[in-house]
Amino acid sequence: MTNGRPEERQFVRFTRLNRTLHACMIVSFMSLALTGLTLKFSYTAWAATLSRLLGGYETAGYIHRAAAVMMFATFLAHLKDLFRLKKEYGSWRGLIFGPNTMLPTRKDVTEFAATMKWFVGLGPRPHYGRWTYWEKFDYFAVFWGIAIIGSTGLTLWFPVFFTRFLPGWAINVATIIHSDEALLATGFIFTVHFFNTHLRPEKFPMDTSIFTGRMPLAELKRDKPLEYETLVHSGKLEASMAEAHPPIVLRTIRTFAWTALALGFCIVIWIIYAMLFAYQ
Ligand code: HEM
Repeated sequence: MTNGRPEERQFVRFTRLNRTLHACMIVSFMSLALTGLTLKFSYTAWAATLSRLLGGYETAGYIHRAAAVMMFATFLAHLKDLFRLKKEYGSWRGLIFGPNTMLPTRKDVTEFAATMKWFVGLGPRPHYGRWTYWEKFDYFAVFWGIAIIGSTGLTLWFPVFFTRFLPGWAINVATIIHSDEALLATGFIFTVHFFNTHLRPEKFPMDTSIFTGRMPLAELKRDKPLEYETLVHSGKLEASMAEAHPPIVLRTIRTFAWTALALGFCIVIWIIYAMLFAYQ
């Protein structure tokens, strides 16, 4: 390190758009979770305090809707980016069935079994490639989550329109699904996703690569050995390297990331408290 800046050039894992969209996802998801949960647990003291800070329950409702628009826009921008990726990979077939696919493959099943063995000391750490099975799972959890929570959210937002072709009781069902899926999504992201990404021993206390886009080459070799070897053999490694960010950028990124992590943990604790001691 020189003046807090890593000396070596680093491997670029995420594009600028990937990083921007992930940051937008964090901002929109945190805003939706905070405002939604203050409604759901409105009978608890923390929800009342939070709602007052946000300007009251009505304002929280407006923030919720604005954040929902941001989340939909983020999702659409990602779908549009898939068309760019298709060109990069030559065809949809190359993107969807190539070695860097996000779809689950037989290799993921083998790696899952090998990882379980590694956990209990019965085998070596698997030779992970570009995407591990848990990263693919997290990726598709967003597709599933947006489909369920987004469609029920829109039903709650525009009940008059939706009851033109749905029975009235569908609004009650949409509220239950939306509310319970919100718990599932926040519970999953702020525990399993946080643990897999930041709290596992190799990454603890935080993996900043989704924010910086970069990781040291030594980390790539250790974490994703198969990806490293593929890049070396194809001669593409040098083209995937870039200078590290200046310290001020790294400090800003860490502040943002630590705030998001801390907020996520607080939300989990608030949910557990509300469910155990105040559930109505
Ligand atoms: C992405 C699209 C989404 C849309 C369009 C949407 C829309 C809505 C609407 C219109 C309401 C009723 C609020 C009111 O009456 O003022 C609501 C409630 C709620 N939303 Fe969302 N929402 C979305 C995503 C989320 C997410 C991601 C979460 C949490 C992670 C969430 C959590 C909640 C909760 C907990 C409630 C209260 C439900 C209850 O009363 O039990 N929403 N949402």
